[in-house]
Amino acid sequence: QKKVTTRKIQAMKAEGKQIAMLTSYDFTTARIVDQAGVDMILVGDSASNVMAGNETTIPITLDEMIYHARSVVRGVKRALVVCDMPFGSYQITTEDALRNAVRIMKETGVDALKLEGGAEISDSIGKMVTAGIPVCGHLGLTPQSIHKFGGYGVRAKEEAEATKLILDAKVLAEAGCFAIVVEKIPADLTQKVAEAVSVPIIGIGAGSADGQVLVVDDMLGKNEGFRPKFLRVYANIAQVMTDAIGQYVTDVKSGDFPNEQERY
Ligand code: KIV
Ligand code: NA
Repeated sequence: QKKVTTRKIQAMKAEGKQIAMLTSYDFTTARIVDQAGVDMILVGDSASNVMAGNETTIPITLDEMIYHARSVVRGVKRALVVCDMPFGSYQITTEDALRNAVRIMKETGVDALKLEGGAEISDSIGKMVTAGIPVCGHLGLTPQSIHKFGGYGVRAKEEAEATKLILDAKVLAEAGCFAIVVEKIPADLTQKVAEAVSVPIIGIGAGSADGQVLVVDDMLGKNEGFRPKFLRVYANIAQVMTDAIGQYVTDVKSGDFPNEQERY
């Protein structure tokens, strides 16, 4: 199986082929996600929420992201692996951003990085691309700025923010981003962004785009109680796990497990 490259992802847009992306944070899940045929795997800082149980993505550290990314890389043969740069690892100076970007590339083996923001981080992105690091942008609802936004509502509903978002997409494409994620923006704005730039636009809660991304725990029904309108839930893993674990408890307590075959 040939490894998916950033060039292949870019060619998919040119060929009108949709890009399927999901998150992963650990080895066994990443191996399944990869074998199921996803084109890109995101080691998202949503690990802060779904792995660690935090309210936001703010607290996850660079070391923690590196641990998740290393685990995912070991499970993937085909998909392009993208790692989120966590809050604080690229906002201080361009030099600091580049140092942290290099560290993730050296220590994890991921194929690309993702950063939240537009024009304000384009210098840092330019430096990374110059250094040979593929970068994916992220615009719209950027969860690392949640305290600025004051909530997880739809972004860029107003003209000014929508205009700025299209401009930011152009700046990111110009800075060398190979793709851009747009999160929770109106579907008609996503269409405009996808038409404004030649790089693939990957949507989440953003309607049709050049591809889609979801958090794997959310779409598998493992993140109980999280049911936003944009999410399609493909399984009830929480129920599967609850039933299996309940049966295990029953079997241990009754003495049924382990049986004569399940011992040495
Ligand atoms: O961290 C994440 O899971 C993400 C996607 C939702 C785009 O950034
Ligand atoms: Na993220």
